[in-house]
Amino acid sequence: MEPDRVVLGIESSCDETAAAVVDSRRRIRANVILSQHAQHSPFRGVVPELAARSHAERLDLTVQEALRQAECPWGALDAVAATAGPGLLGGVLVGTVTAKCIALVHDLPYVAVNHLEAHALTPRLTDRLEFPYLALLVSGGHSQFVAVAGVGRHVLLGTTRDDAAGEAFDKAARLLGLGFPGGPAIERAARDGDPDRFPLPRPLAGQAGADMSFSGLKTALVHAVAREGARPLDDDTRADLAASFQKAIVETLADRLEQAVRAFRRLHASGTVVVLAGGVAANQALRARLSGAAAGQGMRLIAPPVHLCTDNAAMVAWAGLERLEDGAVSALEEPSRARWPLAGGSV
Ligand code: KG4
Ligand code: ZN
Repeated sequence: MEPDRVVLGIESSCDETAAAVVDSRRRIRANVILSQHAQHSPFRGVVPELAARSHAERLDLTVQEALRQAECPWGALDAVAATAGPGLLGGVLVGTVTAKCIALVHDLPYVAVNHLEAHALTPRLTDRLEFPYLALLVSGGHSQFVAVAGVGRHVLLGTTRDDAAGEAFDKAARLLGLGFPGGPAIERAARDGDPDRFPLPRPLAGQAGADMSFSGLKTALVHAVAREGARPLDDDTRADLAASFQKAIVETLADRLEQAVRAFRRLHASGTVVVLAGGVAANQALRARLSGAAAGQGMRLIAPPVHLCTDNAAMVAWAGLERLEDGAVSALEEPSRARWPLAGGSV
C-alpha cells in the first residue's frame, strides 16, 4: 500500500451520521459519529424519512468536524469514499451526493463503498488481517457467512432465510419493552438473567449448509411471554427472557459457524481466521462463544473493537482506501442502492 494516502469516509446508510479520516498507515485520524438513536427511540425503530432528514441536516458539519479533528485540510485528501448501499435509500443518497460534490469541488476520486464490504474489511484495518478469511456479517439488515478472498472478491456461503440477527434482537427487545436499539438493551438485561430458564429453539441446528433463520425464535419468544400471563413482566422474568433469547441466538450462530467453516475450507483449505463483524458483533456473549466455537474448529476469531463493529465511517474510509489501492475508483454516475448484495450465488 502506498504510504500516507488519506481518505475521507462517509456513512449514512442507517441511523448513524458519520465521517472519518483514515490513512494507509492504518491510523484512524478522526472518527466522528452522531447517533440518531434519541430521535428514533420514541418510534421504537428507525424511521427512514426522519433518518434521511437528520443526515441531510448534520452530515456537512460532521464532515467538517472529522477534518478538523484529523487536522486534515481538503488538499491533503487522496479520495472521498461513501457508503453507496445497501441501506435506507434516502440516507444513502445524502452521503453519496455529499461525497460526489466534495469529489467534484476538490478534484478527488470518488469511491462507492458497499457497507457490508466495509464491515468485512475492518479487521484488515485493526488487525492487518490477510486474505482469505471467513466473515460472519451480522447487522440490523443482514446475516451472512462470506468467504472473503480479496477486495470485491466474495463468495456467499450462507444467509438468513428470514430475519437478520440484529433485527431479531430489535424485535425481541420491543416485545420485552426494553427499548431501542434492541441488541445492547437485550445484552444489558441478559446480564442479570438465567439463560436456561426458558427453553427456546435453535433454528436449523445440525442441518447441513450455513443458512440461518431467526423468525421462529422470535415467535417462540412471543409464546414464552404469553405463557407468563396478562400481567406486566417483572424485572427478573424480563431478564431471564432476555438471557434465554440471547443464548438461543448465540448458540444458533455457533452451530451455523461449524457448517460455514466446512464450506469455507472447501474453497480455502489454508484459511485460519473467522471474522465477526457488523453491529451484532458488539455482543460480548457472542464474541466469547464464537471465539470458542472457532477454536474448536482450528480457527481463530477476530472481532473488531466494539466501536468499529457498529456503524461508523472509519470502516468506510478504510474500504475506500483498499479500493483506491486496487484502482477501483467509481464514476460520479455510480448509483446509490437500497439493495446491493455483496456476493453472487451461494455454494
Ligand atoms: O451494523 P449496524 O450498526 O447497522 C446496520 O448496518 O444494520 O447493526 C445494527 C444492529 C442492530 O440490530 C442492533 O440491535 C445490533 O446491531 N446490535 C447488537 C448489539 N449492538 C448493536 N446486537 C446484539 N448485541 C449488541 N451489543
Ligand atoms: Zn452496519
